[in-house]
Order: sequence, then structure tokens, then C-alpha cells
Amino acid sequence: MMESILLFSFCSALVTLGKAYENIALSKPAWQQHRYNVEWGADKAVDGLKLDLSASGGQCAISADIQLTAEWRVDLGEVLSIHNIFIQYRTQNVAWGEISYLTSRFLGYSLYISNSTNKDDGALCFKDTNYTRETIPNPTNITCAIHGRYVIFYHNRTHPPYPAGYSEYAYSDLCEVEVNGCPTPGFYGEDCSIPCPQNCQEGHCHIIKGTCLGCIDGYYGDDCSLPCPQNCQEGHCDSIEGTCLGCIDGYKGATCNEECLDQNYGLECQQICGNCKNKEPCHHVNGSCLNGCASGYVGNTCNLALESCSSGNESKCKTSTVLYVSVAITVLSLSLNAYFIIRQLRNKSVRRQQKNTENADTPTDKRSKDLKPTEHFSTSVYDQAEAKPAYQELGGIAEEYQYDKLS
Ligand SMILES: *[C@@H]1O[C@H](CO)[C@@H](O)[C@H](O)[C@H]1NC(C)=O
Ligand SMILES: *[C@@H]1O[C@H](CO)[C@@H](O)[C@H](O)[C@H]1NC(C)=O
Ligand SMILES: *[C@@H]1O[C@H](CO)[C@@H](O)[C@H](O)[C@H]1NC(C)=O
Ligand SMILES: *[C@@H]1O[C@H](CO)[C@@H](O)[C@H](O)[C@H]1NC(C)=O
Ligand SMILES: *[C@@H]1O[C@H](CO)[C@@H](O)[C@H](O)[C@H]1NC(C)=O
Ligand SMILES: *[C@@H]1O[C@H](CO)[C@@H](O)[C@H](O)[C@H]1NC(C)=O
Repeated sequence: MMESILLFSFCSALVTLGKAYENIALSKPAWQQHRYNVEWGADKAVDGLKLDLSASGGQCAISADIQLTAEWRVDLGEVLSIHNIFIQYRTQNVAWGEISYLTSRFLGYSLYISNSTNKDDGALCFKDTNYTRETIPNPTNITCAIHGRYVIFYHNRTHPPYPAGYSEYAYSDLCEVEVNGCPTPGFYGEDCSIPCPQNCQEGHCHIIKGTCLGCIDGYYGDDCSLPCPQNCQEGHCDSIEGTCLGCIDGYKGATCNEECLDQNYGLECQQICGNCKNKEPCHHVNGSCLNGCASGYVGNTCNLALESCSSGNESKCKTSTVLYVSVAITVLSLSLNAYFIIRQLRNKSVRRQQKNTENADTPTDKRSKDLKPTEHFSTSVYDQAEAKPAYQELGGIAEEYQYDKLS
């Protein structure tokens, strides 16, 4: 076990020893817009061969004649960290410079790194606007330290007139394109051996400096090691400045470290306190009055005025009206229930009593007729109540109720 680990680290040390970035384009899938023929296919620019720089050598990718645009690209397979791009243009194995007709074809090229096959989605690494047939270098080496999946060489001759020395048509005569970078995402440094800081977004960092390209949620700073301020909304903050993108309820300021002041509370301190006792400020988060309401006000935030309710102000006391109405309904239904229960019990006993009186008090019938019905009723209830003391109180209430109605 130990031995294999040692062997492994020895081998990887050997591989990376003194090595710069790796050619991550080597043998990767390549494509070109107008192919001249199979022998000069797009893949010839990533075959690792650049000894014979003539068309007949079979080591160059050459585009078709008489085209206004020429485009070539390589697919790295995934988003990788790139350092520089080396381009060897075709020379026909003769001296480069003004005497070579191929210099006129190389002038005005541009180079992109993109995450899609569309160059316009990506970043322009280089566009020649200034070289002449005398000055354009070949080979050339363009530093472009960014992340991307496709490296795109683009040429056009669609907008004449062009500067002196430019070819009439667009060509890509690429004998070799080397994309030097790190073969594994998440590492940086010349031998791609240093892991990117752990809170980098998608694990990506700058290939030279090791700074994160963005941070995972909740962190900021060059290496994303600083936690966002604790009152940031959803814990998010600007990955460079560390300022919050919004605050949680009850706080304000760039870093949300200030509680709402005065008579404000809630989201962005935009809500206004109700009427707390002694004009005290309300709780900065939820607006509640911690020592109760000023007299005449109710509710969690003391924003409901009792006065305006009684004077029928709809807008201010809607909540309390609903409350009062539901309490009233409950009380009413309870008392109605009680009333009907009592009435049923009473009716039973009254009927019983009436039977008794009919049997026993026939002689007093005349007197009964002269009496007001209420008197008769109450008397019997009273009698009955006396006989069963448990009903006394209820009987009394019923009597009063009946009396009120009749009088
Ligand atoms: C490609 O995507 C990565 C994120 O996956 C991003 O960091 C990088 O900037 C993108 N590259 C380009 C050229 O848009
Ligand atoms: C263009 O080339 C000239 C001369 O070679 C140079 O002085 C100038 O700075 C270049 N301009 C750009 C934008 O590269
Ligand atoms: C291209 O430039 C980089 C530094 O920017 C260097 O490490 C690399 O060796 C150069 N490649 C060639 C082929 O000159
Ligand atoms: C072609 O090149 C011209 C300038 O040389 C430029 O304005 C134009 O946008 C280019 N066309 C495309 C499709 O990129
Ligand atoms: C408002 O917050 C304070 C402090 O956390 C708490 O004591 C109070 O109960 C809250 N009020 C409401 C209505 O949630
Ligand atoms: C009801 O309350 C609103 C809002 O506070 C106020 O503008 C209005 O004058 C009040 N109306 C009455 C009849 O009290």
C-alpha cells in the first residue's frame, strides 16, 4: 500500500517535473467550416505534428478556396482552464514574411474561447487589426487565461475594402494549434498541481493567480474564504465586495449590520410601527410593541384603533370588527342553546305540573282564568322550581325574560 502510494507520487512528480502547462487540444475533436479535402481535415491542426509546414506534408488543416469566411475550432470536451494558445500557420516550408503569399492570408484573424460552438457566446482572446505582411509573427503565442470549452479561429473577408496586404478571400491554413492549460478542472499553477480554493464557484480559479472566478453562495473575497455578513438575505453577498444583495427583515445597510431605527421595522425597514405605549419604538424585525399598546389601540403592532372601530371606520378596524363579530356570534349561539335546553326541560315539568293542577285544583279553575297568563305561568314555574331547587335560578331568568317580552 505504502509502496504503491510512493510509486504513484514518484511517477506524478516525474510527469510534472519541470513541465509547463499541458497541450489540452492534442487529438481532441476538431471542425472546420469549408473543408478543402479529407487530407487537409480540421484534425490535422491537433495531431501534434508540425515538422512539415507544406500542404503536401499532410500535417496541416487547410480550408477551401474562394470563401468569404473561414472558421476552425477544437472541442476540449469540457470547460477547462486555459493559459495560452500557440498557432503555427502554414509556410510551405519557405521563409516567412513579405515574400510569402501566406502572410496575406493570416492577416486579420481572430481567436475566441467559448463555452459553445458559437464564437459570439465566448470571449475574444485576440483580433489582428494592426499587423502587416512584414510584421505578423508565425508561429505566434497568445496568452488568454480564461476558462472555456471551445477554441475558435475565425477569419472573414466580408467587408471590403481591407488594408493593404490582405488576401481577397478568407483562409485557415493551420498546421498546429496548441491550447496550453490544465487538463483537470479545479487546479492551477504552472504544473496544474495546486487545488483551487474550496469555495470557488464550480471549483474554478485563475490559472496563474489561483483567485476564484466566482464564489459559492455565502462567501466572498479573492479566494472566497470570507463568509457573507450574517444578516444578508438568503445569505448571499457580492463575491468581490462582500456587500449584501438584500437584508433579512429588520436590518439595513450595505452589510445589513444596522437594525431598523426610529419607528421603522421589517423588510428594508419600510414598515412603520403602530402606536406602542409611551411612543416606544417597536421591535425592529416584527413590529410588535414589547410593552404593549398606547391606550386606545390593539393588535400585535398596535395599529388598530378602538375608537375608529366604534365610530364605524371600516379601514382601521376591519380585523377587530371580524373579531368582535365572531365573539358576539359565539356568545349568542351559546345562550340560544342554553335557552332552548332550559325551555325543553321547563316545558316537560310544566306539562307535568299542569296535569297535577288539572287533577287537584279543579275548583280554582275560575280564579286561574282571571289571572294573567304570565302570572299563572310564573307561579307554576316558581312552584316547580321550589320543588326542585336546582332549577331555581334558571326559572328566575326565564320568568324575567318572559315578563319583559309581554310588558
Ligand atoms: C465558461 O463557463 C465557466 C463556468 O462554467 C465560466 O467560468 C467561464 O467564464 C465561461 N467561459 C466563457 C468564455 O464564457
Ligand atoms: C500598431 O502597430 C504600430 C506599429 O507597429 C504600433 O506602434 C501600434 O502601437 C500598434 N497598435 C496597436 C493597437 O497594436
Ligand atoms: C507560449 O507562451 C508561454 C508563456 O506565455 C510559454 O510557456 C510557452 O512555452 C510558449 N509556447 C511556445 C511554443 O512558444
Ligand atoms: C467581418 O469583419 C468585419 C471587419 O473586418 C466586421 O465588421 C464584421 O463584423 C465581421 N463579420 C462577422 C460575421 O464577424
Ligand atoms: C416579535 O419578536 C419578539 C422578539 O423576538 C418576540 O418576543 C415577539 O413575540 C414577536 N412577536 C410576534 C407577534 O411574533
Ligand atoms: C378612518 O381612518 C382613516 C385612516 O386613518 C382616516 O383617514 C379617516 O379620516 C377615518 N374616518 C373616520 C370617519 O374616522
